[in-house]
Amino acid sequence: MKIISDSQIILTRYSGNTRIITGIGLLDKLDIFIDSKNKPSNILLLSDVNTFELFGTQTEKSLNNLHVPVVKSIIPPGEKSKNLQSLAEIILPFLKKGLSHNSMLIALGGGVVCDLGGFIASILLRGIRSVYIPTTLLAQIDAAIGGKTGVNYVTPNNVMYKNMIGTFHQPEMVISDVNTLVTLPERELRSGLGEMVKYYVGWGHPTIKQLSSTSTQGVEREKVAGIISLCQKIKITVIKNDPFEIEGSRQQLNLGHTIGHAIESAAAGKLTHGEAVAVGLSAAVKISDRLSFINSSKARNITATISSLGLPVNVKNLNINEVLRAMAFDKKCGTFVLIRDIGKLIIGKRVDNVIVRNVLEEICL
Ligand SMILES: NC(=O)c1ccc[n+]([C@@H]2O[C@H](COP(=O)([O-])OP(=O)(O)OC[C@H]3O[C@@H](n4cnc5c(N)ncnc54)[C@H](O)[C@@H]3O)[C@@H](O)[C@H]2O)c1
Repeated sequence: MKIISDSQIILTRYSGNTRIITGIGLLDKLDIFIDSKNKPSNILLLSDVNTFELFGTQTEKSLNNLHVPVVKSIIPPGEKSKNLQSLAEIILPFLKKGLSHNSMLIALGGGVVCDLGGFIASILLRGIRSVYIPTTLLAQIDAAIGGKTGVNYVTPNNVMYKNMIGTFHQPEMVISDVNTLVTLPERELRSGLGEMVKYYVGWGHPTIKQLSSTSTQGVEREKVAGIISLCQKIKITVIKNDPFEIEGSRQQLNLGHTIGHAIESAAAGKLTHGEAVAVGLSAAVKISDRLSFINSSKARNITATISSLGLPVNVKNLNINEVLRAMAFDKKCGTFVLIRDIGKLIIGKRVDNVIVRNVLEEICL
């Protein structure tokens, strides 16, 4: 086992603290981290079928060293599990096998499992302890950090209201083991790059070289762990100042998400979260260019960088009205995060509907 980074976010006294550990070979040693806190009465292990098949045995073996009962709820993989309607079935095993205020929910999986697990931990008995073990690049650099939890609401005719139901609930720990990323399908790795490139555009890090090296197979795991830790620290710095998105500075993290979420909803499963964010990011670049916040050649360079990482900058066969409808319901709707330059963002900008529609017409081919 090698720990590359181990830090503590101290948020406000109302939101709890989170220890964030990133390294190599951590999955075999979970008991060391969890035992250092007071031992839970039992563990509620939430995972999806894919992740559990890959890492379930290893995780359970390591948790068994704690000598506390482990109750499992294993969900189908993907965004479709992260919806309000599935919740009753998902929490049933936890209710049946006994819950206490000292139960600990462990979410083992990607952003879907972390968002859902965090939400469940925040509502069971009005809030129990939670630990995230993110196993996708996207979850390690983004979804597992910051305490936003939530589920989607999907109507019977398949309209998705993304992340419309959720809470702020900080996990006690986030344990990212870079070894888990080895099994990640190429498309999921790229999806993580969609959020990573957001950090590059908004904060200037990771560098393009680091971004490109993360997308290459066979890169030294220590290097990847360092880049993941760097992204986590950017997010931590932002949320420390505005843990509940009240002051406004946390809005910076929504860069690419205003249109990205709407595109993800309208695409109804055809795009991964990171792909939708990449398209949303290139939309934000185009809007910034049209409003003359950024000069056109810089705007083109950013779009070219996104594209060079193998990420989409436009999307085919998407109904613009569907995207606009999804934006109208999204909580981030109304204001945009725009770009002056790499590392220079403008938050809370209202943008004329005509400009938004024109940009969508360019992006939705
Ligand atoms: N809470 C937040 O702040 C926040 C931030 C960003 C994204 N999110 C949410 O995160 C979700 C997307 O997360 P995601 O991209 O991780 O998707 P995901 O959780 O659906 O995982 C993607 C796929 O990879 C599989 N998988 C997971 N780990 C694996 C591994 N190590 N090897 C092989 N396969 C593996 C999963 O089973 C799934 O099929 C979205 O719902 C998004 O809204 C939340």
